[in-house]
Amino acid sequence: MKIGIFTDSHYSSQKITCGKRHNSKSLEKIKQAYAFFESEKCDLVICLGDLIDKEASHETEVANLKEVAKIIRKSAIKTICLMGNHDAFAFTETEFYEILGDCKPKNVKAEGKTLLFLDACYFKNGKHYLPGDTDWTDTFYPHIEDLKKQIEETTDDVYVFIHQNMDPDIREDHCLHNSIEINGMLQESGKVKAVYQGHYHPGMESKHGNIEYFTFSAMCENVNAHYILNI
Ligand SMILES: [Fe+2]
Repeated sequence: MKIGIFTDSHYSSQKITCGKRHNSKSLEKIKQAYAFFESEKCDLVICLGDLIDKEASHETEVANLKEVAKIIRKSAIKTICLMGNHDAFAFTETEFYEILGDCKPKNVKAEGKTLLFLDACYFKNGKHYLPGDTDWTDTFYPHIEDLKKQIEETTDDVYVFIHQNMDPDIREDHCLHNSIEINGMLQESGKVKAVYQGHYHPGMESKHGNIEYFTFSAMCENVNAHYILNI
């Protein structure tokens, strides 16, 4: 399976935020990424979240997301887009996927591989983020038992995709509150080959036990920050 990947585009009208996020350039970068994925004949595109960033008005956020949706909808390659904390700050899940089209994460099964997508836009008290009510340092995945069951029920190799971080080498404030528990379960299953993440903008690559952890660097802070994953 050949997958085109990008993350943390943080598209908005702002020229620069946090001193290094070139938000307004990301629309063009997303176009370039899709042109590259098409030339490489990818089977699937995955966006690992923080597709957009906040604006002074929700109308502008909607208009920005519609611009991105045009690129996604125009492509013949199917896209799966996880929501990041910035997407969840601006949009409900319903509105986000209504605008983007058919991009809502759903397990992919092919060639003896299963791709699982985790939504960790939850506070540690188990409540899901809401527009205007998110915290990038408070992230949690509440459905461990369901996840364990899904992994137990397959004989496939399993690949996990998530916006926030589970790599033990990444700064704790970027990681899920329960990442130690989840990682333990993933290791124990013996089926999980890799965990792919965004959120930590510099990016990271490491291996713990039998699992490889890849964190892709942020599109808004780099040039050509789009990747091909062969799994
Ligand atoms: Fe981000």
